[in-house]
This record gives sequence, C-alpha cells and structure tokens, in this order.
Amino acid sequence: MKFDTPAGINPIDKGRVIGIPHDRIDGAAKVTGSAPYAYERHDAAPNAAYGWIVGAAIAKGRIAAMDVRAAEAAPGVLGVVTHANAGKLGKGNMNTAPLLGGPQVDHYEQAVALVIADTLENARDAARLVRIDYAPESGRFDLAAERLNGVIPPEGFGGPSDTKTGDFDAAFAKAAVKVEQSYTTPDHSHAMMEPHATTAAWNGDKLTLWTANQMVAWGVGEVAKTLGIPKQNVRLVSPYIGGGFGAKLFLRADAILAALGAKQIGRPVKVAIARHQIPNNTTHRPATIQRIRLGADKNGVIDAIAHEVWSGDLPGGGAETAAQQTRLLYRGANRMTAHRLVTLNLPEGNAMRAPGEAVGLLALEVAMDELAEASGVDPVELRIRNDVQYDPEAGPQRPFSSRKLVECLRAGADRFGWAKRNPKPGQIRDGRWLVGMGVAAAFRNNLVAKSGARMGIDAQGKVIVETDMTDIGTGSYTIIGQTAAEMLGVQLDQVTVRLGDSRFPVSAGSGGQWGANSSTAGVYAAAMALRAKLAEKAGYPADQAQFEDGLVKLGNKSQTLAVLAGRDGVWAEDSMEYGDLDKRYAQATFGAHFCEVGVDIDTAEVRIRRMGGAFAAGRILNPKSARSQVIGAMTMGAGAALMEALDVDTRFGFFVNHDMAEYLVPVHADIPDQDVLFIDELDDKSSPMKAKGVGELGICGAGAAVANAIYNATGIRLRDYPLTIDKLLRAQAA
Ligand code: MOS
Repeated sequence: MKFDTPAGINPIDKGRVIGIPHDRIDGAAKVTGSAPYAYERHDAAPNAAYGWIVGAAIAKGRIAAMDVRAAEAAPGVLGVVTHANAGKLGKGNMNTAPLLGGPQVDHYEQAVALVIADTLENARDAARLVRIDYAPESGRFDLAAERLNGVIPPEGFGGPSDTKTGDFDAAFAKAAVKVEQSYTTPDHSHAMMEPHATTAAWNGDKLTLWTANQMVAWGVGEVAKTLGIPKQNVRLVSPYIGGGFGAKLFLRADAILAALGAKQIGRPVKVAIARHQIPNNTTHRPATIQRIRLGADKNGVIDAIAHEVWSGDLPGGGAETAAQQTRLLYRGANRMTAHRLVTLNLPEGNAMRAPGEAVGLLALEVAMDELAEASGVDPVELRIRNDVQYDPEAGPQRPFSSRKLVECLRAGADRFGWAKRNPKPGQIRDGRWLVGMGVAAAFRNNLVAKSGARMGIDAQGKVIVETDMTDIGTGSYTIIGQTAAEMLGVQLDQVTVRLGDSRFPVSAGSGGQWGANSSTAGVYAAAMALRAKLAEKAGYPADQAQFEDGLVKLGNKSQTLAVLAGRDGVWAEDSMEYGDLDKRYAQATFGAHFCEVGVDIDTAEVRIRRMGGAFAAGRILNPKSARSQVIGAMTMGAGAALMEALDVDTRFGFFVNHDMAEYLVPVHADIPDQDVLFIDELDDKSSPMKAKGVGELGICGAGAAVANAIYNATGIRLRDYPLTIDKLLRAQAA
C-alpha cells in the first residue's frame, strides 16, 4: 500500500481500541519472568556454552603478540576466538570499527578475543589468562583541543551538514538584542537495563541468533556481510528487549563473537557484553561543543539565528547533528547551521535517544532563556512570538503537516502554574531551598519508514499479526495489537502479536521514534488486505463490508470471522510505503517542558521538585504507554541536565566511569512528580494512523527546562553540562 495523499476517514478513526490506555499485553510475561530475553534462551539452545569478551587495553595501535595457551588450558575452556583464527571477516555498513579487532586496535575495549567455556565463571577466569603485548600509537582524545580540525561530516539522518538562508552576519550585526554563547555537552552512555546479548546456534550453514536488536532486518544484513554468508542463512530472533535507546540499532560484538564461537566449538554459544565493558566496547552519544547566536528586535522577535556544532568520532564515523531543530523550530529570515566533525580515537559515537535534538535543545533552549531575559519578554511568550507555521529555511511553500507548539506552551504553562514564577532570579525561598521555574520547547523530527506485516485469522477465529518489528520496552506489542483489533472489529484479547523474528515481514524497526507510527501503519496495510479477502469470502463488496464484534457485516447480514477463516485460516500480507508527503510538508513533534527545582543555599544540591509537559505528537495510540515513554524520556533529560557524563581520560583515550556505580542516571528519588498532557492532534499527512512518534520527544528540551529553572532559582547560568554541585559552587564563589 502506498501512502502519498493525506489520509481521509478510515477504520482507525472509530477509536474503539486505538487511543484507549490499555495495559501492555506483554506486561504479565515480563513481570513474571516468562518473557525470554536473548541471554536466556535455555528453551531454544539448552546446551549453550558461555563466551567472555577480552577487550583491548589500549585505545589505538597494534597487537604485537597474543598468547592464548594458558587460557585454552584453563578449566572448562572449550575454545578461544581471535583475529588469528576467525577467518577473514567483512565489516558491516553500520559499525565504524570492526567488531572483532586485531591485529589493529581501533579503540579501547574493542573486542580482541572471545574465551568460551562450560560456565560463565570459567570463561571469565580464563579470559584473564590471555596475554597480549601491544604496540600502542598516539591518538586524539580531546574534543575541545581538536575542535579547529573539524571537517564537514557525511550526510546522515540529519540532512546536510550546513544550511544557510538570507544573510545571517548582516542581520545579526544590526540586531537590537543579541545572545552569543557556547554550550558543551559530554559523552553519554545509553545505560539500558539489558546488556547487549546474543545466543548463537548453527545448524549446518544456517545461523540463528537470539539477540537484543532494535532493527532485525538491518541486523540480518550486517551479520551476512560481516561473516560473508548469504542473508537467507541468517535468522535473527529478538522478541523481547530490555531497553535500547539506540544502543541496539546496530549489530555489536556479542552477536558476531557468539556466531564465531558457536562455529568454532560446534555448539551454541551465548555472549553478553559485560556491564563494565559496554561504555567503551559499544557506542555512545558523542560530546558536543555548540555555539549559538540569536539576534532579535527589542520585542524578542528573532531575525537572525545561527547554531554551530562540533563533535568527534572515529575515522569513518558521523557527527552529532545537534543543530537539526534549529532549522525548523523558530522564525527568522536570516539563518545558518553547521556541523563539524573531528577525528577522535575514543570508542565509536552513534545514535542515542533523539540523536541531534536531545543535546541540541540543551543548548538552544537555554539560549532562548537568555534571549528572554535580554529582551525582557516572558520565556513562554518569547517562544510563542517566534513560532513559525512553515519550514523557515524552505519558506511558506513547505508548511508543517501539523504543529501545535503554541498550544503546548499555553496549556502546559497553565497546568504548571507558570504565572506564579518570579522572572527575577534568586527571589523565592522555601526553607533551605532557593526555588525556581524553567521552561523549554520540545521538538523532534517525525520520520516515516516502510513497514510490513502479515495478518491472519486462524481456525479458532483468533487474529494473528506477525512482523519483525521490535518492542524495546516501548509498547509495540500493545499498539500493534490495538491496531489489528480496531481494523478487524474484535477485542484486543482476541489478537496474538508476534514480533522480532526475521522470518516475519520486514518492519520499520525501533529507531528515531518512527516505530510506533510506521509499524502500525504497516499493520493497517496488512489489515486492509485481510479485510478484502474476508469480504470476498463473505461475498460482500470490500468497500461496504463492516467489521464489528467479530463479524463481517453487510446491512443486516453478517458472518463470523471464525467461520470465514475455515479450517485453513485466512492470511494476507502487505506493507505501507511512503510517497513524498514528508518532503512537501515538514513533519515534526512538539511540546513544552516545565520544571521547578530547589537549590540548597549552602551545598548547591539541586532537587527537581516537579516536571510537567504538554506534547503534540499526532494521534496518541495508547495514552498509557505513550505517557510512560514521555516520563521515561523526561527522566533521561533530567539525567542529562544534572548528572550524566562519561568522563574521558584524555591521556589514554577511554571512558573512566564505565559502570552503573559511577555513570550516574536518575533514580526514583531524583524525580518526584511528573505530569504529562497530550494535546489533541491528528496528523493526516503522517500516515493512515494519523499518529507520530513520541518515544524521543520527551527527552528533547527536558534538560534545558531544568537548567533554566536552576538559573531562575539562583541567578547562576551554567552552560557546561551536566550542571553539578562543584560547578554551581564555583560559579557562586566567583
Ligand atoms: Mo533511536 S537513538 O534512533 O533508537
């Protein structure tokens, strides 16, 4: 099915199952421990051996010599995989450095061996006996020091590296009110609960990987390319995933090493990347340096806006596209954005929840707070004045498909009690606490991607949906079930949803918050095909048949789905493809974040007291799971504001705080109260679902609202994230 004209009224609009806050249909399986995760496939591979990864102890250089004899002789050891015995490997398109290194070492903790044993403990003990002599080379590890060596990065999801409209320099020079500031954000780790993990088994030349992967079809292609085997010999199974946040978009070392290990010992092998290895072995969100210039008239109306971003990656890597939102969020005839990429020999940088906007808004939305103060305009009102209903780089001929930023700002401010804020910083005291409020806009692109599904009705009249879509904790099972139930006129408990298997039709997968809208649109397409088959079996015209209460109806005639399905069942498969509606219309999701903090007058301890937000993201398919997505993302935004940072050892080139004890993320006690309001919106240019993504929107801007609240509480403006106590105390002393 092709989606190339705006959606009219369709079966989803009934809103009988879609739009209802149903509990997750996979919830019971997860909380009772019966949902099998990749490392736990005792059912599928009961005799699996255990692999333990040996990571490189240098950031750059070569392995001069490697001695695995002691490891091989250790108790229980079944094999050791290294570059010397793995055979020639290809490199996937999506990992920057080889997943099995050696003799060249590309980054610290890059996998250079896998030790396989009968137990995890034996594998781990033997891994310590692998002797490696390195010939280290000097590398570059300091983004700030390398900044002037930045080059134009390759084009990625973020579009071109640079954009220019009008004459920024001239307009900025004559602006009545100016803000010119630099902001920095550190490297971030995804820190999802489930580590990267794979169980691998060979049957002849056929490989099955039970693995935690957000993008099943991409993974199949990458495994085939890396191992040099045909795609049809690779099966990826990824039905349950304990979080990803972008960490599991791409294949990592666990999958390739488990496959190589299983081949070597002729028995299934399971590999998890240990927690302390994850930050350096896998990907992270790259640190940024951002320079923002805003030029406005005395009423705060922007005429000139510029956002420049520097980030680093390994040779062949990509940039953190943190200026993305600045191309679309605010008005201004004179604009420029630019990204520069420097070569660093730190571990591989890549996508993490809302790549681009998540850190771009940490800078832009603080700059907007600074503009509000400089122009004497309320920060909510300032954003409303600078709203634009079309793509400001392309002009009015490219309107937004839907854009309710102003509604979000107004409704959110109302609900949060913004009117009570004192615009003068440092004025409100509550016991030991200085109290302040901040606001920030939320913005995240709406991407759409082709997605397929197979749907059927079995002999019992149960509806089955199969697609290789993944559920990374987002609620895909439930919204896909809801879509199928809505389309066929049955209750949600009549639907069985099967996900995450490369034997199922290729879906959009889980990434870039495109999953919910795109994967359900694929189910919509398959359901339309199935409805046509059922109507034909009933002898009714497909465009007049009604699907209600488990029946196919025409006027006062009806037949049950179960009878129509017969003994063989009825099946249909289709996919949703997209025309150019996302080119003709700018498509994005919007919101407004509000935060109230308290800052201790002596210790500068920051406590978030309340967070609230209003969000417009098209049709909300399930308000309960969507709210969970948004509050989880707001929590991550609070983490980015206050505590999250990978600390770089710029001498040796690695992330020092590589475990959950020292890479700090918020816990429940850090986040007392979060309020989420969804603004009614249907986006008929996004898909027949009229939905958009919401999984990443909530992180976008949340941290800036925290930063702005700290400023309002204390009068201290920090621009170097995370905003920790030491920085606040130093600024206060100065
Ligand atoms: Mo998202 S960072 O594209 O999983």
